[in-house]
This record gives sequence, structure tokens and C-alpha cells, in this order.
Amino acid sequence: MEIHRFEKIWLGASLLLIVGFIGTITYGAVGAGVAMVDDSGGTVDPTALSDHPEFSDPGVQQVGENHYAVHVVAQQFVFQPGTGTPIEVPAGSTVTFYVTSSDVVHGFNLVGTNVNTMVIPGQVAEITAEFPTEPRTYAIVCHEYCGSGHHEMAGELRTVPPSEFNGTDASADLQGGEP
Ligand code: CUA
Repeated sequence: MEIHRFEKIWLGASLLLIVGFIGTITYGAVGAGVAMVDDSGGTVDPTALSDHPEFSDPGVQQVGENHYAVHVVAQQFVFQPGTGTPIEVPAGSTVTFYVTSSDVVHGFNLVGTNVNTMVIPGQVAEITAEFPTEPRTYAIVCHEYCGSGHHEMAGELRTVPPSEFNGTDASADLQGGEP
């Protein structure tokens, strides 16, 4: 059987395409540092967050030399902290977020980063991110429909120069307003 020269070229090109597609999928799955949010954050009683050692007073804690833990409670229609008072962490630091919900399913997305998870009542979503050394403000948005105020559910995270970071946790906005 004779295969025409152009047929061979097309066959070769389509094989290359298939190999290329498999290559990009493989790179996206294992090479690009993309990870799924799994169950490592554990569970929590969503009706008793006020008794929880961390979620009763959510905010920023230093847990290592340049490592911070940020606990966030999502509820209709605010992030605590994040809405009202921005979350502040030092630029260039590593931050582990622990996010949970006290009512319905919400989303937690740091716009422009791959920090992005569903926030499920009873579950703690745990995500670690390294922030660039350049100070920046990131929007936090809820991307799961959670009720009539969903479209307004947003917040802010700021990375500040380490010299300006005062370590105060941003939980004051829990009570709403200035101290
Ligand atoms: Cu919270 Cu949408």
C-alpha cells in the first residue's frame, strides 16, 4: 500500500499534536506546582467556631521565621478578616491559609494567584502560598454562589514591606468597625 507524501505529513503532524497535548497536560498536572486542596486541613464544627482555639479569633499568626498562618472564617457575606479590615502579611513570606465557613458553601480566591478553594462548612481548607517580595494588594473574592449578597462578598489581602509589618492580627473587624 502506498501512502501519499502529504498523507504522511498530516499523519506526522497529528501525532505530534497528540504528543504535545499529552505533554502540556502532564506539565500542568505535575510540573507547574498546581495542587489540589485536599482534606489535610481537617474538620471543624461549623456551629461552634466561637469555641475553636483559632477560628474564634481568626487572623494572622507568625508560626515560623518567615511563615505565617492566616485563619479566615467565611460567612454570608464577609470574610473575617479580609472584608472591612484587609489581611496583612509581610511581602516575601510564606503564608498558610486555613479557611472555613460557618454557614453555607463559599469560595476563597486570591485574585491573580492560584490560591483558590471552595470553603465548605465543617471542613478546613488549607493552602500554602509564597508571596513575592514586591508589596501588593490582592482582592479576595467569593466564587461560589452563597446567597443574595454573593456578588458583594469580597475582601483584600495586602503584602507589606517586612519593616512595616506590625504583626497585629486583623481580627478586630469581627466586631465591626474601629476599636
Ligand atoms: Cu460567599 Cu458567594
